[in-house]
Parts: sequence; structure tokens; C-alpha cells
Amino acid sequence: MQRGESDNDDILGLLLKARNEGNKSKGGRGISTDDVIEECKEFYLAGQDTTTALLSWTLVVLCMHPEWQDRARNEVFQVIGKNKPKFDDLNQLKIMNMIFQEVLRLYPALILYRSTSKSTKLGDMTIPPGVQLRVPIYLVHRNPEVWGDGALMFNPERFSEGVSKAAKEPLYFPFGWGPRMCIDNNFGMVEAKLVLSQILQRFWFELSPSYKHAPHVTLVMKPQYGAQIILHKL
Ligand code: HEM
Repeated sequence: MQRGESDNDDILGLLLKARNEGNKSKGGRGISTDDVIEECKEFYLAGQDTTTALLSWTLVVLCMHPEWQDRARNEVFQVIGKNKPKFDDLNQLKIMNMIFQEVLRLYPALILYRSTSKSTKLGDMTIPPGVQLRVPIYLVHRNPEVWGDGALMFNPERFSEGVSKAAKEPLYFPFGWGPRMCIDNNFGMVEAKLVLSQILQRFWFELSPSYKHAPHVTLVMKPQYGAQIILHKL
């Protein structure tokens, strides 16, 4: 940037530009180098780990439900054929969208963490300051009172008439809720569709005998022992 060789229109450029405006604590308008580093880490975790988890679970689940793998592949060939997917094509992948929505219901990438900075009333409870709260989205997404008896079943069909008709109550929030909601859920879905459609165009896939189904929840829900999948060229 100092040699004038970079344009500032990507996110790293914008962050560095903000840093170059001088540290706020020293009277400048900009952010500190540590802030730049923390922002990069946030994007790496929030933007990469989440989409990676979505794609891994989707491949696993499509191995377990080959009928949905076939339906997704048929749709890809109908809409995109063997061509490179274009942005407009991705919007037409309705079945793939339903599949991703159902995967994000059963395997939502994140747990939400909040802490109280002051005494806070939540329903009937008064929570003192300094308490950490966890909202395990996956438990709400698997609650039979919200999703009916088939709550634990993989059934993308439930999203065929949109998210609002999928559950008895509006309690589907794989991208969070309120002011801290994901800022790039659409970008994440575009990335996931781009990758999955190109895998489906080239391969059919099945679980390796070494795969052990063990969803493991830390901050991001991941397959604890990995997702061993065998790809077969079409
Ligand atoms: C399938 C993919 C994704 C999922 C499931 C997902 C999920 C979430 C969730 C649940 C939150 C809320 C966290 C909270 O309230 O504590 C969040 C926040 C966030 N997401 Fe995503 N996300 C995805 C993709 C992305 C991508 C691709 C980016 C950026 C390139 C991104 C950037 C962010 C950022 C910066 C925040 C923090 C927003 C804030 O605190 O104001 N996410 N995401």
C-alpha cells in the first residue's frame, strides 16, 4: 500500500487503510494493528469454518440418503448441465437449497454465546452481571415441539414451501438472530452451492467404512473423527 501497488477495495485493504488512519487511542481515527489481526481471525473463523462445516455435513448426509444425492445431481444437470455454474444458475437450485436448509437445521455450525454486562431480565428470570449464556441452536432445531415427531429425521421436503412453513414456531436461526446476525449468510450459501454443484457434476459419493458418525460441538459443530468419503468419477 505504501508503494501504491494495492487497491483498497478488498477487505484486507480496507482494514489496513483504517489502520493507517492512526490509532484511536493516540487521537487518530483508525484502528490498531491488533484490531486488524482480530478482524482477520473473525472472518477466518466466521467465514471459513462455518461454510466448511456445512459442506462436510452435507456430503455426509447425502451419502446417508442417496435418493437426495440423486435428486440434487439431477437438478444440477437440469439447470447447469456440464457447464461451469454461473451466479444466476445457483439461484435456481431449489432442491439444493432445501438440502442445505435441512443440514443447517440438524447440524447448525455455531453455538451462540452471550454474557451479561449488567443485571438482565429474561422472561421470568433475572440474570446477574457476568454470567455467560449459551444458546445451543442444534437443540432448538431438534425440538419435536417445534418440528413435530420427525424432528430428528433428515427431510429437506419440510422446507419445500419456505422456512416459514417448515416448523410450528418460527425457531429456525442457523445464522443467528437480531443485531449480531451473520453478515454474510448469502455469500456462504453461494460458496456452498458453487462447490457442491461442481462435486455433483463430477462424482457420486459414499461413506467410507471408517466413518464414525459423531457430531462434536465445540464452537463449530464438526464431525469429531473427520468425514471420510469415497468419491467415484461419474
Ligand atoms: C454456512 C455458512 C455460515 C453460517 C452457518 C454462519 C453462521 C453465523 C452465526 C450463527 C452468526 C451469529 C453469531 C452470534 O450471534 O454469536 C454469524 C455471525 C457472523 N458471520 Fe456468519 N455464518 C456463515 C457464513 C459466513 C461467511 C461466509 C462470512 C464472511 C465471509 C460470515 C461472517 C460473519 C461475521 C463477521 C459474523 C459476526 C457478526 C457480528 O457479530 O456482528 N459468516 N454467522
